[in-house]
Amino acid sequence: NMTSDIVHALVEWFHREKRIMPWRGETDPYKIWVSEVMLQQTQVTTVIPYYERWIDTFPKLSHVAESSLQDILKMWEGLGYYTRARNLYRGAVYIVNVLKGNFPESREELLKIPGIGPYTSAAIASIAFNQPYGVVDGNVSRVMARLYLIGEITSSSRFKETVTNLVNQSLQWGAPRWVNQAWMELGALVCTPKPACSACPLQSFCEARQHLCVENFPVKPNR
Ligand code: ADE
Ligand code: SF4
Repeated sequence: NMTSDIVHALVEWFHREKRIMPWRGETDPYKIWVSEVMLQQTQVTTVIPYYERWIDTFPKLSHVAESSLQDILKMWEGLGYYTRARNLYRGAVYIVNVLKGNFPESREELLKIPGIGPYTSAAIASIAFNQPYGVVDGNVSRVMARLYLIGEITSSSRFKETVTNLVNQSLQWGAPRWVNQAWMELGALVCTPKPACSACPLQSFCEARQHLCVENFPVKPNR
């Protein structure tokens, strides 16, 4: 079970070990949106200079909406997965033209923005607005599968539901914006595909570690 002891150990570690990122501490939903979209399929170190250049060029959402798709794609050049840039543009045009430039705060309203799905809406609601929505990416899923010995395969809806429930529970013991980022950071820095369990702040709570079967989790689909 998720406990306050686990979350406190996680958050204490995060405050000691977190990497500095230009969007960390930002509460402008537009900036969080840009960073999260860039981070979806690209490493943090690659994203940082692209993020800085993007925000220098388009400091506000209105600057994105008033640009041409051509300029947007040019700014994205080198990041790949250009659908992300097209979606960012579509969403910006929608917020500026349909919502009169008012960035919505509720998860429900965020989900109505073209190109914003369950992951991005949870990330914006929690990181920008500090609302208790768990942000579940591949890193977080790997941590939970090991910590709680989740035996379902990662592609199953049961697995995703179990992980989301655990992360959501954890948010009651800390600020959602920081607890979510702490789970992501643990998965990125310690509980990696080849994990550093002896340096892990959660090793005394970890079921996979206790059972000496860390390498068998998470359970990946056959391919
Ligand atoms: N990956 C996606 N969002 C992130 C964040 N806010 N911090 C670190 N890694 C991330
Ligand atoms: Fe991951 Fe190892 Fe920490 Fe468990 S002890 S959460 S497997 S790094």
